[in-house]
Amino acid sequence: MLGNFTYCNPTKLYFGKDALDGLNEELPKYGKNVLLVYGGGSIKKNGIYDKVVAILKANGKNIYEDAGVMPNPTADKLNEGIARARAAKVDLILAVGGGSVCDYAKAVSVSVNCNDDAWDKYFIRFEDVTCDIVPVGCVLTMVGTGSEMNGGSVITNHAQKLKIGHVFGENVFPKFSILNPEFTYTLPKYQMISGIYDIMSHILEQYFSGTDDNTSDYIMEGLLRSLIHSADIAVANPTDYEARSNIMWIATWALNTLVAKGKTTDWEVHMLGQAVGAHTDATHGMTLAAVSMPYYRHIMPYGLKKFARYAVNVWNVNSEGKSEEQVACEGLSEMEKWMKKIGLVMNITDLGANADMLDGIVESTLIMDGGYKVLDKKEIKDILKASL
Ligand code: NZQ
Ligand code: ZN
Repeated sequence: MLGNFTYCNPTKLYFGKDALDGLNEELPKYGKNVLLVYGGGSIKKNGIYDKVVAILKANGKNIYEDAGVMPNPTADKLNEGIARARAAKVDLILAVGGGSVCDYAKAVSVSVNCNDDAWDKYFIRFEDVTCDIVPVGCVLTMVGTGSEMNGGSVITNHAQKLKIGHVFGENVFPKFSILNPEFTYTLPKYQMISGIYDIMSHILEQYFSGTDDNTSDYIMEGLLRSLIHSADIAVANPTDYEARSNIMWIATWALNTLVAKGKTTDWEVHMLGQAVGAHTDATHGMTLAAVSMPYYRHIMPYGLKKFARYAVNVWNVNSEGKSEEQVACEGLSEMEKWMKKIGLVMNITDLGANADMLDGIVESTLIMDGGYKVLDKKEIKDILKASL
């Protein structure tokens, strides 16, 4: 049975080859001072920076730059960005990049007018926003996180060995996001497939929970089928527009809050992956891929019915004459085969983790209670050991 919920997603999307024209519609809504936030320079190489700056100038904006947002943005960088945004008295933060840049922009946006330490307030104490929020807009260049249409913001604190996400409310969602699938063509294959698995993981985190007959589960099976199909095409031909645009759209729907409404969700794979990330600084989607199979094999007996349904409806496993357990196992084997085929990293050793780090990673792993099995620390360690 669907639980009670409210649903509102205020982000306006501009999608397609001409999506960047949407900036001309959006910019007049905001004041003159724009903080242009971006990463390590990919947007300068592929020409997106020049296009965005030309539109900002044509709209008479004062451009203040905040470059060098790293993958897995840090608390230290966040403090630097807050200071820059304050100094520039920004009216709009324009994030041009992937999830890291969008997440970072949101974290800056809720901290500019707040005196508390941002890391402590939002990522340790999980407090609500109590100050004026600077609006954020996104031009997305890397697909996977869904940050373009949600309130998520994940920040890493290397000194504390923590990587934590805060899910902010609708007032922190980007006001608008520009989604041009062609902007993702220059992504290295490693990043593209990492993003593809991030999408798959977002869907599975919301799918493998609960026993209700929930419409969301049918939607998610459809999203997964389309993702697997389009991913195979994009891996073979990265400039296949249809496949890249489908993947971009699936990523947005996987985590723009819709499919989680009225149902329970898990998110333990993300907690494990984020803990691995906190200790290795590895690429987000790869950390999820590396822990997923040991985790799902561990919890499968507790959610057998759903795993069997997943095998049949997503991986086309023929269930005739087989036990539920056999079907569920075959589904996970098909998933594992596919993950290897597209080139995902399947163990945390390849991401820089080793046996000596396991206790620390266990300590950094938050335990969620929405999945088929609430893990204890020993189980977390066993799963991480099996992921080495
Ligand atoms: O920094 P630049 O030079 O731009 O290079 C980036 C970066 O090295 C590169 N890149 C991006 N677009 C490109 C490109 N290279 C060539 N051509 C392009 N068009 O890709 C690299 C990775 O970018 P990043 O933004 O880090 O990737 P992603 O989008 O996967 O974001 C990862 C971050 O998002 C968080 C993750 O934890 C991680 O910190 N997440 C955010 C979520 C949310 N807001 O809801 C949920 C997710 O589960 C996730 O946790
Ligand atoms: Zn993710």
